[in-house]
Amino acid sequence: MLGYFTEVNSVETVNARMGATINPRVRQVMSSLVGHLHAFVKDVQLTQEEWEYAINFLTRTGQICSDERQEFILLSDTLGVSMLVDAVNNRRPAGATENTVFGPFHVAGGPVRPMGYNVNLDGRGEKCLYRGRVVDLQGEPIAGARIDVWSDSVDGFYDVQQPNIQPKWNNRGTFITGEDGAYHYLGIKPVSYPIPDDGPVGQMLIALGRHPYRPAHMHYLIVAEGYQKLVTHIFAAGDTYLESDTVFGVKKSLILDFKKVEGDSIQWEAAFDFVLVRR
Ligand code: BEZ
Ligand code: FE
Repeated sequence: MLGYFTEVNSVETVNARMGATINPRVRQVMSSLVGHLHAFVKDVQLTQEEWEYAINFLTRTGQICSDERQEFILLSDTLGVSMLVDAVNNRRPAGATENTVFGPFHVAGGPVRPMGYNVNLDGRGEKCLYRGRVVDLQGEPIAGARIDVWSDSVDGFYDVQQPNIQPKWNNRGTFITGEDGAYHYLGIKPVSYPIPDDGPVGQMLIALGRHPYRPAHMHYLIVAEGYQKLVTHIFAAGDTYLESDTVFGVKKSLILDFKKVEGDSIQWEAAFDFVLVRR
């Protein structure tokens, strides 16, 4: 018998209340969570006012969520938790393309476009040819890989953030590789942009003296039968925010030199091969 709750025995007392027959993973996760939460309160000697502020902050975070906005994921992203969960769950062998954060702006079920298609539907921005191959660790082409791509517009917004301004499917597309595993399509050279910062997460960033920007990137989701799903970006080398991405998504292996193309209508070229790992 542990007796009544005290400052000293708090963790053991709370965790001892769990039933004997509960799911063992629930027991493990919740015991650890309670342990870390109590240690945190004791470590910082949390005041009553700070506790109230935290409750209010989390309440506002929930209240701003909608079908179009997930402020809790944004909170996880900006605290580095999304990237950490991704890292823990996607350890890959050398040579494989690394994962990064998925983000909230992917739209599933878009139309499949023919190779070479121009996903930039508003005609604004610096034109860029994206090309490369989807291969396995031995360099063999992967046929039938489904490649979803999405980027922001030249103004730094995804089409879904501006449904009355941008054409639907602007700067996003789906492509399927053929026998050679190759892909190519046209888009724009993306620009850096702030994550949605008009809610509690934006206020938190200000309080922490942080900016809300992500460096310019093109998103990729690549799915192929028998291979691990790849969620990644290509980042444009030289971007101001590469070393201070507000969601910690940058990895060295994903930074690419966009090559300037002289003398025809395409202004940039981004060549990148994606290396998938068998499941
Ligand atoms: C994005 O890259 O689209 C993104 C990622 C995390 C939070 C917000 C946006
Ligand atoms: Fe993005």
